[in-house]
Amino acid sequence: MEDQPMIEFKNVSKIYGDNAAVDKINLTINPGDFVCFIGTSGSGKTTLMRMINRMLKPSKGDVFFKGQNIAQFNPVKLRRKIGYVIQNIGLMPHMTIYENITLVPKLLKWSEEKKRAKAKELIHLVELPEDFLDRYPSELSGGQQQRIGVIRALAADQDVILMDEPFGALDPITREGIQDLVKSLQEKMGKTIILVTHDMDEALKLATKIIVMDKGRMVQEGTPTDLLRHPATPFVEKMIGEERLIHAKADVTPVKSIMLKNPVSITPDKSLTEVIGLMREKRVDSLLVTENDKTLIGLVDLSALSHRYQKDLLVRDIMTKVSFYVKEDDLLRDTAERILKRGLKYAPVVDKNKHLTGIVTRSSLVDMLYDIIWGSQEAEEEE
Ligand SMILES: Nc1ncnc2c1ncn2[C@@H]1O[C@H](COP(=O)(O)OP(=O)(O)OP(=O)(O)O)[C@@H](O)[C@H]1O
Ligand SMILES: [Mg+2]
Repeated sequence: MEDQPMIEFKNVSKIYGDNAAVDKINLTINPGDFVCFIGTSGSGKTTLMRMINRMLKPSKGDVFFKGQNIAQFNPVKLRRKIGYVIQNIGLMPHMTIYENITLVPKLLKWSEEKKRAKAKELIHLVELPEDFLDRYPSELSGGQQQRIGVIRALAADQDVILMDEPFGALDPITREGIQDLVKSLQEKMGKTIILVTHDMDEALKLATKIIVMDKGRMVQEGTPTDLLRHPATPFVEKMIGEERLIHAKADVTPVKSIMLKNPVSITPDKSLTEVIGLMREKRVDSLLVTENDKTLIGLVDLSALSHRYQKDLLVRDIMTKVSFYVKEDDLLRDTAERILKRGLKYAPVVDKNKHLTGIVTRSSLVDMLYDIIWGSQEAEEEE
């Protein structure tokens, strides 16, 4: 049961007159996916979404919910299993926050006790005081109302939540806060969310899977990283935006891919004579110190050596602890600036177990940044 898809579209089309609003879509949505449908106006996003809960009926093909053809469901029952957040998450103005949150649970005939417990649990999740439950929507700020709208969608313990441009009308700051909230609740509660948006930033931030729609067709399906790395068509490229593609390289490239492997290192039990020998041989002015199993512990450099040199001292006596290192799976986006700002010549790179696996040098970072800028200039010249 676990790996059964939550939603499946099999060859689904929706045709109005001569026009296919949605054209031969095949798509699998798994439990826990956060799927964003993105595309220009009129590309079929809303139509595609509404066929999931039978607000619209496919002209051709079938939609399945947990393996069962939705054509066989009673539409009302189906809609109670699948949450739907209307545009801009409208709250009912004449109902209290409590009544708003428990709207669907009430339809599902939950006990008063269960509804109350759920409402309290959710209001804590979004960090609002419990006595807000007795207020009316007009007594809350816009951002607070929005948070209530989000938890209302989560209240009924539905497995799937459909959201059609839910944050469209919000100012950018409120919008970011709400996006973070939805994403963290979705992960925490393991919901499957399908969200329609025009906004590529939103899709890249929230989605585990992005579906790019153009004229009723699905032109690309992939993770945010897939889209940034390999936009399938010029249309997708345009949706992502030139500037973002330039930055995308740093956004998706891990440190591992540009680090120099086999950095020069030494163990703490070695003599300073050996340090000098190794530095001279490798033409470096500092050595990373690791345990025998390669765990990174410190650094000896030329200045420590010249200040503290005594014949019978060992590496461990003069080494300094490493205070700065990066992990090989860290993204360059996050790392480059930290390294450049600190004015370091290089940073040690470690794996999950803090074993030394490489170094990133300032000059390799400069090369990479140069590559990005140079690469984009070349692309412009070609056009
Ligand atoms: N009931 C209808 N009758 C005829 N054509 C329709 C109907 N509903 C939608 N369409 C057409 O189907 C196409 C897709 O519409 P849809 O609402 O799915 O687009 P959308 O991607 O959600 O656009 P938007 O971003 O503007 O909300 C459009 O060309 C629209 O005009
Ligand atoms: Mg729409």
